Amino acid sequence: MIIYNSLEEFNSVKHNLPKLSFVPTMGNLHEGHASLIDIAKKTDNEVVSTIYVNSLQFNDKNDFINYPKTLDMDIELLDKKGCNHLILPDPSILDNIKSIKAPIKSTKLCGAHRPGHFDGVLTILNRLFEIINPHTVVFGKKDYQQFLLVKDFIYEKKLNINIIGANTIRNTNGLALSSRNILLTEKDKTIAPTLYKTLKDIEINKVYLNSEYLKTKSDYLKSFGFKVDYLISCDTESLEESYNINNNDLLIAVAAHLGGVRLIDNLVISKL
Ligand code: PAF
Repeated sequence: MIIYNSLEEFNSVKHNLPKLSFVPTMGNLHEGHASLIDIAKKTDNEVVSTIYVNSLQFNDKNDFINYPKTLDMDIELLDKKGCNHLILPDPSILDNIKSIKAPIKSTKLCGAHRPGHFDGVLTILNRLFEIINPHTVVFGKKDYQQFLLVKDFIYEKKLNINIIGANTIRNTNGLALSSRNILLTEKDKTIAPTLYKTLKDIEINKVYLNSEYLKTKSDYLKSFGFKVDYLISCDTESLEESYNINNNDLLIAVAAHLGGVRLIDNLVISKL
């Protein structure tokens, strides 16, 4: 794997590179990221990844400061997975950066609790797409709203980029892999899988789906000590709240804090 320690280093060689499949990350990589590299490797392209903790997408300064950093281990994992190029953007990435205003659906779900978050995500991704000019990009669907907004952004801006959404990788207990999981206490690690269990429970009982039913599920999570930002049933494209499971597949999405750690998860349930 070739490591570029600055954008200048990458820019000086990029014109000689073949088509690229791109996996953007903020580091602290785990098996979920490894699966994105595996998917990128299945394309006919060389694989490029970035590790950059993007200050623009953190509305909580402490969250940004405490974001886990494990560069040596990350490099080892990417190398082992056969990633061809790793760019470690330097602060010049922010020079004259063009701010992107995310569309209205960015204000729903996570966006309602993290104002400006998706503006920051799209702003940095737009810059990375300009620099890397990828043929394909791979995003995990654990961050479903992010995946959707990037897909829409590529379509709206008519970017010549193919986007692949990857299924969430889970521990055997169901907990979605996340860089934040290492911040959980041992006790909270046993409670955290309740999030996915609750989503699966909603799926099993989808004939009863309505706002009151979801409220009981949200209260159930609270009884375990979760501070629930949202537990919502919504349209898989518009993210508008919906319970119309007779006619449409629906996204059930949850975000909740456990001992100060913010966890998200989701499940698409098929129509009746
Ligand atoms: O999903 C992430 O890790 C980040 O939001 C991304 C896509 C790397 C942009 O900073």
